Amino acid sequence: MEERLVTQEVTNDDMLLEQTLRPQTLDQYIGQDKVKSHLAIFIEAAKQREECLDHVLLFGPPGLGKTTLAAVIAQEMGVNLRTTAGPAIERPGDLAAILSSLEPGDVLFIDEIHRLPRAIEEVLYPAMEDYCIDIVIGTGPSARSVRLDLPPFTLVGATTRAGSLSAPLRDRFGVLCRLEYYTEKELTEIVCRTAQVLQADMDLDSAGHIARRSRGTPRIANRLLKRVRDYSQVKADGEMSEEIACEALELLEVDPKGLDQIDHLLLKTMITRFKGGPVGLDTIAASIGEESETIEDVYEPYLLQLGFIHRTPRGRVVSQEAYEYLMLDHLYPDKDVKR
Ligand SMILES: Nc1ncnc2c1ncn2[C@@H]1O[C@H](COP(=O)(O)OP(=O)(O)OP(=O)(O)O)[C@@H](O)[C@H]1O
Ligand SMILES: [Mg+2]
Repeated sequence: MEERLVTQEVTNDDMLLEQTLRPQTLDQYIGQDKVKSHLAIFIEAAKQREECLDHVLLFGPPGLGKTTLAAVIAQEMGVNLRTTAGPAIERPGDLAAILSSLEPGDVLFIDEIHRLPRAIEEVLYPAMEDYCIDIVIGTGPSARSVRLDLPPFTLVGATTRAGSLSAPLRDRFGVLCRLEYYTEKELTEIVCRTAQVLQADMDLDSAGHIARRSRGTPRIANRLLKRVRDYSQVKADGEMSEEIACEALELLEVDPKGLDQIDHLLLKTMITRFKGGPVGLDTIAASIGEESETIEDVYEPYLLQLGFIHRTPRGRVVSQEAYEYLMLDHLYPDKDVKR
């Protein structure tokens, strides 16, 4: 699959910039007000009691700020952040080594926690509950289990798929935070902040323009801003007016709602070949030459979020708003025909 400009997943190009752009404190972290206000209280209370923060699970689609928030939590608690990821921990010993090297109060961040092997999850349960681990020493009949005490710590887990987390693991988190897509206003603020960090001069209208096309996702907003900056540097001596932003985004084929060519192809195929549905995922996949999983995990979520596609028991249906947006209203099926 060719890389999309509007992908929510992190790209090589994003990585360098993301490090420098990450907000460090809750105040700098824009949006997610509900999550932030809850966390602020829990953090304050833990600090007053001089205890460590309860374990936190962050979940939500890619690029909404889970990794960023994990670092903010450590910063606000005034403790070290240790970072690892589900797939990086292959054996129980790997996890035991990490856990026993923590300092009291530290935050251990496990990204993609849904990908932890089951055997390792089991090491995590007593660690989370009682701050201890049982390790087996030796093999065969002489093997014995030794209990090792750990310093108190906070586990922050992040996942894009809260549903794939096993129930016993999920239940051991005291704080569950679901990150939501950002509003246009919040994204505008994020774009302005990023422009400032990049020392680029950007007015509110141009930032709003980028924000509207960012699919509710800060990562995409930052990426589009970077492309607009490149364009303005080459074509307009670095001036980032609304007009330039608009021109650049048009050239990049990101439409006013942040839809790209693939989104258009998907919707138009459903409209022209399947009368707007209901049509099954596999059928759609076959007709645009993609895997069903890719459509379900990558293309469809934003279209569902926009209300351009609905899921029904008989398959996917294109909404009337989508017909109007694509200026294909004349193809919208008769209202009397049951869909
Ligand atoms: N609330 C926010 N305020 C300002 N910038 C943000 C915010 N959330 C995210 N960002 C920006 O978006 C980028 C992506 O965020 P982050 O890497 O934390 O997402 P993620 O949820 O961990 O994604 P993934 O699921 O792919 O790991 C960050 O580098 C940061 O610059
Ligand atoms: Mg992340």
